[in-house]
Amino acid sequence: KPVFILNGPNLNLLGRREPHIYGTQTLKQVESLCEAKAITLGVTIDFRQTNHEGVLIDWVQEAMDSASALILNAAGYTHTSIALHDALKALSIPVIEVHLSDPAQRESFRHVSYVGMAATQTIAGLGARGYELALESAASLV
Ligand code: DQA
Repeated sequence: KPVFILNGPNLNLLGRREPHIYGTQTLKQVESLCEAKAITLGVTIDFRQTNHEGVLIDWVQEAMDSASALILNAAGYTHTSIALHDALKALSIPVIEVHLSDPAQRESFRHVSYVGMAATQTIAGLGARGYELALESAASLV
């Protein structure tokens, strides 16, 4: 089964969106990094992005039976979505929370993570490199 790598709202704008915070790499480039890392690890990935909370929840539910692990950057929904938290709680596969920036060092409204409370581990503040590390971690956990 592939490792699902799911990305939430506004991450489609990566590279053009507050580059001083999120870097200049596009999401497509992050996906390419993940593809290359997956090959070296001998795993397959399913990399997706949506701006819609319900779609993200549908994909988390899909991961239940169809993924070996879940890497999730829920972006803004990290700090707001109890529904996403509940969906993650239903999973028995490893869940790795990823953020490009470190929300703990930013505005106080980013200090709570409903994703983190349901995740196996969290990687934050390492930019796109965090996705590669998350993949390494996922590969070692499954
Ligand atoms: C983010 C951090 C979130 O607080 C923010 O809402 C995002 C991106 C990150 O990757 O650093 O959209 O998840």
